[in-house]
Amino acid sequence: SAVRKYTFNVVSTNTTRLCSSKSVVSINGKVPGPTLYAREGDNVLVRVHNHVPNNITIHWHGVRQLRTGWSDGPAYVTQCPIQSGQSFLYNFTLTGQRGTLLWHAHISWLRATVYGAIVILPKKGVPYPFPKPDGEKVIVLGEWWRADVESVVKQATMTGLPPNISDSHTINGHPGPVAGCPSSAGYSLQVASGKTYLLRIVNAAVNDELFLKIAGHKLTVVETDAAYTKPFTTDTIFLGPGQTTNALLTADQTAGKYTIAVSPFMDTVVPVDNVTAVGFLRYKGIQPFSPPHLTATPPINATAVTAAFASGLRSLNSPNYPAAVPQTVDHSLLFAIGVGVNPCPTCVNGTKTVADINNVSFVLPTVALLQAHYFKLQGIFTDDFPANPPSPYNYTGNPPANLQTTNGTKVYRLGFNETVEVVLQGTSLIAPESHPIHLHERNTMSVPTAGWTAIRFRADNPGVWFLHCHLEVHTTWGLKMAFVVENGKGPNESILPPPPDLPQC
Ligand code: C2O
Repeated sequence: SAVRKYTFNVVSTNTTRLCSSKSVVSINGKVPGPTLYAREGDNVLVRVHNHVPNNITIHWHGVRQLRTGWSDGPAYVTQCPIQSGQSFLYNFTLTGQRGTLLWHAHISWLRATVYGAIVILPKKGVPYPFPKPDGEKVIVLGEWWRADVESVVKQATMTGLPPNISDSHTINGHPGPVAGCPSSAGYSLQVASGKTYLLRIVNAAVNDELFLKIAGHKLTVVETDAAYTKPFTTDTIFLGPGQTTNALLTADQTAGKYTIAVSPFMDTVVPVDNVTAVGFLRYKGIQPFSPPHLTATPPINATAVTAAFASGLRSLNSPNYPAAVPQTVDHSLLFAIGVGVNPCPTCVNGTKTVADINNVSFVLPTVALLQAHYFKLQGIFTDDFPANPPSPYNYTGNPPANLQTTNGTKVYRLGFNETVEVVLQGTSLIAPESHPIHLHERNTMSVPTAGWTAIRFRADNPGVWFLHCHLEVHTTWGLKMAFVVENGKGPNESILPPPPDLPQC
């Protein structure tokens, strides 16, 4: 295995999208930022220098961070932010994972412009469990606001109102020719007739679950969230924010230009940016101005399409890489998750939007939880995160019986190697909504609107692990919590000591 070194300079960059310019926080002047390339087993070193006034942290979304929780990245959970003028070295080893993941800023909403892909190739000499593609392409989906995103969030926090929705989605940073800016060229994917490509697709959007469709072409999904799957063929990819997939595309159609369309999914009445981002698949040698073959993505509320995609993925347990689901559980948890309104005398309507798990709206501390846990600092968090919603709790009702939420910095404590089942139950405080729930060092699972998803895991990685909705707006409102996993007694069962340059709060 090798050491892969990257330098991330956090800088302000003038950027034009949707025919309008603004200054954004970026990595090395690019949106999306650099793609990290490594092989399974490699040690990755990313030196982050902060040259902007904002505090920043970077999260390696889905990377296991075995014993290296200090490098996980969520601000005030595993580390204090890297302040202006400071730098920090993220240092982790890619253990037991290969595929595509993403990295993104993990503080406020900076991930709107600070994000990129992580490509983890198999170990040297180890082939893919599918035919070797002729080429590979990274496609990162995002979301764009004409306004300054940090001021959008600040405004929302002050007023108690939901933040303004984005103005467009993006494909590798570009909305493409959309209403209001039809002249934009958009992302272009060049292919040669007859060749097969591995598309590494990342949904790095801030608040939207997305469909992706390419006119005239089918896609064969072979990997999801850095786990190989039994291949299945589909014409529509569906990804929650934070999710990734690898899919094979064969350029087997008449040489030409084909639309790539990206649009949101939302099966409830919540305002969402409904602009379809457009890019083009172009066969080599075609005339630059040939008219494109068009495609339409599914309607915004196409629940059946999301369900079909999820059932395609049901074979996560690929023969070569069986999933290690614990057969018994030490902790059986029921998490009711939802969005609601609380009284707020200083807010515009006298109320503010909140989100919670088991009626706890999580408040980030001012010292990182992992530091507090490791150095045994008192008074930063409490150990009493509830295993169940408060009773009575009719979580299928609309609204449920118990609307009272409390603010708190509560964690749930797990012994080393204990097994956990979490049933994530979607509730409907205002309107039911689906939630892509992300457990740090594992990955992201969709909880369907007013439905449920059950996950099991073994707490075999000591540290503090964040669990939250990957719709950033819900995280802001409090839909988050953390697990503390104790050290084990064995020689390799404790978290490594903190790095010397770990930022202080
Ligand atoms: Cu990709 Cu805690 O997030």
